[in-house]
Amino acid sequence: MNWNKSIRQTHRWLSIAFTVAVLINIAAMGQEQPAVWVGLLALFPLILLLLSGLYLFVLPYTAKGRGASARSHG
Ligand code: HEM
Repeated sequence: MNWNKSIRQTHRWLSIAFTVAVLINIAAMGQEQPAVWVGLLALFPLILLLLSGLYLFVLPYTAKGRGASARSHG
């Protein structure tokens, strides 16, 4: 089962999407009337990062994570 690996990979790429969204935000702030939806551009990947991140956090404490991943020693 590679489910845990997929979540980690998703978290990894979401972090890139979030970083790009933050940069777009900073660029948008330079405008006279910044669009409100630009703020949501970063918020959406951040919410997904939070969910996948919390999942990754609890992995070492579950029996599933302990056996499946060579990286976790918890
Ligand atoms: C929003 C709440 C977030 C939580 C709760 C969270 C939590 C975590 C956890 C628990 C891990 C696994 C650590 C490990 O056991 O090795 C992780 C990995 C990681 N996080 Fe987050 N994270 C969050 C947001 C972010 C953000 C905002 C970024 C960057 C923009 C980010 C980038 C990464 C990266 C690059 C990894 C390594 C992924 C890999 O192993 O390939 N995370 N995060």
